[in-house]
Amino acid sequence: MAQQSAEAIEAVIDKYSRHVNPGLAKLLQFGGFGDVEVEAEGCVVTLASGAKCLDFLGGYGVFSLGHRHPRVVEAVQKQLHRMPLSTRAYFNEPQALLSQKLAEAAPGSLQYVFYSNSGAEAVEAALKFARMATGRTGFVAAEGAYHGKTMGALSVTGREKYRKPFLPLIDDVQFVPYNQPEALRRAVTENTAALLLETVQGEGGIVPATPGYLAEARRICDAAGALLIADEVQTGLGRTGRMFGVNHDGVTPDILTLAKALGGGVMPIGATLYTPEIGLRVFGENPYIHTSTFGGSPLACAAALAALQVIEEEGLAHAAEEKGIWLKNRLQEVQERTGALRDVRGLGLMVGVEFELQDVAELAINGMARRGVIAGYTLNNPRVIRFEPPLIVSCSEIDTAVSAFAEAVEEALGMLEGVEAL
Ligand SMILES: Cc1ncc(COP(=O)(O)O)c(C=O)c1O
Repeated sequence: MAQQSAEAIEAVIDKYSRHVNPGLAKLLQFGGFGDVEVEAEGCVVTLASGAKCLDFLGGYGVFSLGHRHPRVVEAVQKQLHRMPLSTRAYFNEPQALLSQKLAEAAPGSLQYVFYSNSGAEAVEAALKFARMATGRTGFVAAEGAYHGKTMGALSVTGREKYRKPFLPLIDDVQFVPYNQPEALRRAVTENTAALLLETVQGEGGIVPATPGYLAEARRICDAAGALLIADEVQTGLGRTGRMFGVNHDGVTPDILTLAKALGGGVMPIGATLYTPEIGLRVFGENPYIHTSTFGGSPLACAAALAALQVIEEEGLAHAAEEKGIWLKNRLQEVQERTGALRDVRGLGLMVGVEFELQDVAELAINGMARRGVIAGYTLNNPRVIRFEPPLIVSCSEIDTAVSAFAEAVEEALGMLEGVEAL
């Protein structure tokens, strides 16, 4: 695609300001993202100005296979020419094949799948299934958790700032500090329908579950007769170095949610996996009790099926583990050199860098964008820059991104010193 003029870029941004979201348009420009994305392949995004960027944000986990993985594109093209959407009157084969594949990959007896189009919808289904399967109303979730912005998912999202304008939400929700089993023991009771946890808190600041935490959560739920929901919308399908985040603790949840990477970076799709016992209680009397018009379309399922095959055949979970260690080592060198980082942490290729000062994080993201590397902060903890590149990233691409990061941090520190000296 030919490079576009500054006027053409400005025209797109202007339409965002007039017709999409003026605040967002300002924020993106201020953050160093005042360009238009036009093409992408692998780890590289091409902008209208002609600049090429390394994608280390990875669509918050969407682009695990990189952009436009050829096998996913081919599967989608084939399905597109046959039948992209379902009549919903008949069965469709891509959905049947994908469901079998997910059931084989998932731990324990998570052998049924409900399909939707996003992470929040996958969580909505999980919450409704938990209430119906247990006949209880309460939920326990973690402070800092992020589960989406629909009314139900927002109700269990652990950040006041996003919940408050929409109150009253589901009010039977108790929030507990993450990684504290003692708090779970107090909160999960015979009124709890489900405990909902991420296996690595993504928007909460890339906080991995401490070893044993999820296993203890499982025991606590079993003792109280509550369900355990693992929200793997961001951590699922290899991102953390295992197929699922729960695999690190050898835990089988009762319900597991997926989205983001499931569509292979090409199609949107959400999935809620559940056990036969839950299936019987939720859908036993009425198979239409929870539905979605577009969920599980042949096109999305064909993309997801190809994505799962690539993740397995290319060993992307293992790649995430190895490249994650490489990335963390490089970032730790920056920590030693600059002293500006409070922490470098993460699992697999879900890595976060926490700064002493929020200002440094914001300036560093801007500086990285100017140096051709896309990164972002975590929504519920803006002191943390996240690195979630495609799992196909090379070590040399990691080195390039970390060099840009180091330069951007040093530049940010210099700017802040300058401001202080004024
Ligand atoms: C763990 C988790 N759950 C749910 C969601 C919501 O997904 P979506 O934005 O597709 O609705 C997200 C999105 O970041 C997430 O990280």
